[in-house]
Amino acid sequence: MIDPATSRVLITGAAGAIGSALREGLRGRYHHLRLTDINPVTDLANNEEFTQADVSDRKALETLMQGVDALVHMTGAPAEHDLETLFRVNNRGLYDVLETARLAGVQRIVYASSNHAFGCYPIDVPVSPAMPARPDSMYGVFKVLGEAMLQYYYDRHAIGSVSLRIGTYRPLPIDQRSLATWLSPRDIVQLVDLSLRHSDPGALVVNGYSGNTRIKTQDPNWATLDYVPLDNAEEHIPMLRAMGVDIDGPWEYREHGGSFAVQPEKPPGV
Ligand SMILES: NC(=O)c1ccc[n+]([C@@H]2O[C@H](COP(=O)([O-])OP(=O)(O)OC[C@H]3O[C@@H](n4cnc5c(N)ncnc54)[C@H](O)[C@@H]3O)[C@@H](O)[C@H]2O)c1
Repeated sequence: MIDPATSRVLITGAAGAIGSALREGLRGRYHHLRLTDINPVTDLANNEEFTQADVSDRKALETLMQGVDALVHMTGAPAEHDLETLFRVNNRGLYDVLETARLAGVQRIVYASSNHAFGCYPIDVPVSPAMPARPDSMYGVFKVLGEAMLQYYYDRHAIGSVSLRIGTYRPLPIDQRSLATWLSPRDIVQLVDLSLRHSDPGALVVNGYSGNTRIKTQDPNWATLDYVPLDNAEEHIPMLRAMGVDIDGPWEYREHGGSFAVQPEKPPGV
C-alpha cells in the first residue's frame, strides 16, 4: 500500500507538461518525490530530488529506482517522432524502467497510455477499456504494447498498475474534439493520486478524461478508482466560441483518434 507520508514516488518525464502538473499537485501530499527527465528540472521543492537521465540509460535507472515504492511513468516521445525513436523511448525504455522497478521492489506503477490505443473505433461506438484495443497509429500501437507489458508485470510479478488512457491533457480545452477528450491538470493529479493509493488495482486500464458532457466513451473504470472528475470541458464553451471553435456543428472526426486515425504514418528513420 502506498502511503503518501512514507512511500517514495518516482515521477519520470518530470519536466514535461503532465509531469510538471503532477509535481505541482502531488508535492503537498507526497513527502518523498524523486524526479527524472532527459531535460532539466530546476525549481525543486524541499521534498523533491531530481536526476537528469535518458530513459535508455539502464545504469541511471538502476540508481533511480533504489528505495522507490511507486513509479509514475510519464516519459514519452510524442507521435510525431520517427518509428525508431517511438520504440526506443516508449517501449524499449519502458522495458528497462519496468525491469529496474521490479528488481528494486517497486509495488505500484502508474503508466501514461493514450486514447490512441482505441483511436480506430468509429466515434459513435462508446468504447470502454474492456473492449479490444484498436490503435490508430504506431504511437497508439506502442501504447497498447505498454499496457500489455504492465499486464505481464502484474501476472508474472504481482506489481499492481494503472494504465491511464489519457485524452487531451491541456490547461484548458483547445478544440471541438477536446470537448470530449479534455483532461484537466487537477483531474490528472486526482487520477494519479487515486491510482497510487488504490489497495489492489490489478493491471487496470482507465480512460483519462475530465467529466466532459460530450464524452464519447463509456464505463471508463472510474468507479474502481473512486474517481469523480472535478472539471468539465463544457464550462469553457464561451472561451472556445470566442476562439472561433465550431461548437455546434457536426463532429469533425469520424474516429475516436481524431486526426491520428487519418494521418499517414512517418516511414522509419524520417
Ligand atoms: N498530453 C497529452 O494530451 C497526452 C495524451 C495521451 C498520452 N500522453 C502521454 O503522457 C505522457 C506525458 O505527456 P506530456 O504531455 O507531459 O508530454 P511531454 O512531451 O510534455 O513530456 C514527456 C517528457 O518525457 C521526456 N523524455 C522524452 N524522451 C526522453 C528520454 N529519452 N529520456 C528521458 N526523458 C525523456 C521529455 O523530456 C518530456 O519532459 C507521455 O507518455 C505521453 O505519450 C499525453
